[in-house]
Amino acid sequence: MPDCIEIKMPPFQQQSRIIANEQLAADVFRLTVHTRQIAAAAVPGQFVMVRATESLDPLLRRPFSIHSRHADGTLSLLFKVVGKGTALLAKAKVGDLLDLLGPLGNGFNLVSNQPVCLIGGGMGIAPLLFLSQELRCPQHLLLGARNQAELAPLAEAFAAVNGTMQLATDDGSLGHHGFVPELLDTVLPQVSQVCTCGPWAMMRSVVSKCQAANVPCQVSIETHMACGIGACLGCTVPSASGPYVHVCKDGPVFNAEELQWQR
Ligand SMILES: Cc1cc2nc3c(=O)[nH]c(=O)nc-3n(C[C@H](O)[C@H](O)[C@H](O)COP(=O)(O)OP(=O)(O)OC[C@H]3O[C@@H](n4cnc5c(N)ncnc54)[C@H](O)[C@@H]3O)c2cc1C
Ligand code: FES
Repeated sequence: MPDCIEIKMPPFQQQSRIIANEQLAADVFRLTVHTRQIAAAAVPGQFVMVRATESLDPLLRRPFSIHSRHADGTLSLLFKVVGKGTALLAKAKVGDLLDLLGPLGNGFNLVSNQPVCLIGGGMGIAPLLFLSQELRCPQHLLLGARNQAELAPLAEAFAAVNGTMQLATDDGSLGHHGFVPELLDTVLPQVSQVCTCGPWAMMRSVVSKCQAANVPCQVSIETHMACGIGACLGCTVPSASGPYVHVCKDGPVFNAEELQWQR
């Protein structure tokens, strides 16, 4: 018998081979990497920190939700090009190695087998696919984005969902003409919990509707992050009880009532 047994616990740092990098819309990409340990350990709502380049610019890793996990040890990230890091990732080639750290943070807490509503806006749709794939209960999916070009390829990935799906676009080019929380009113009486991710204003509207209907709501928060592991103060947001919480370590998924929404 060995004196001690080495237990490899997450988070893992893995050089992960890029399997695909698909352009879904003008500035939206789906990147699939082979990363067996991270994929095996991940739960919906967790994220990875990605080093976008081997050089020092940009120096910091970038956080991305795990979009989907597959049986062959791969996982996908869905991202929008907004700056230097994501522009580099958009150019990453199949076969390249990507340095990933993860899985990180706390995911969604799925305690019930009652119907659930998943509501996502823009790139906030990313973590909801993994969640949807793991859920065994009926789902009401509400997905929104600026326009059809952005929303259609994201919604396509949810085609096999066990439940219903409604879409909304800001410009009315696909589905409901308006903001996605407007679709929640008719769905709320049919569900026992809501999980959401998207822009802050969208989630604040979702949380307000859930509180009025007394339906529990979990929110996945996206902030700027430097380390992703609780070692800096880069990601703090005010909690409902006063002190700040770290989104990377205490979240990114929170029960809505844990956070301060009026700001
Ligand atoms: C837990 C978590 C999960 C995330 N998941 C995804 C995802 O699945 N898909 C995705 O596309 N993005 C996601 N993001 C946001 C993503 O990390 C940023 O878009 C990315 O880091 C930008 O890097 P960049 O170098 O391209 O842009 P930068 O050059 O760093 O910034 C470009 C512009 O984007 C703004 N920006 C950067 N990060 C954020 C942020 N978190 N919130 C608001 N504005 C920001 C900057 O202020 C700046 O104006 C997530 C963030 C967090 C914290
Ligand atoms: S990103 Fe450093 S503490 Fe959260």
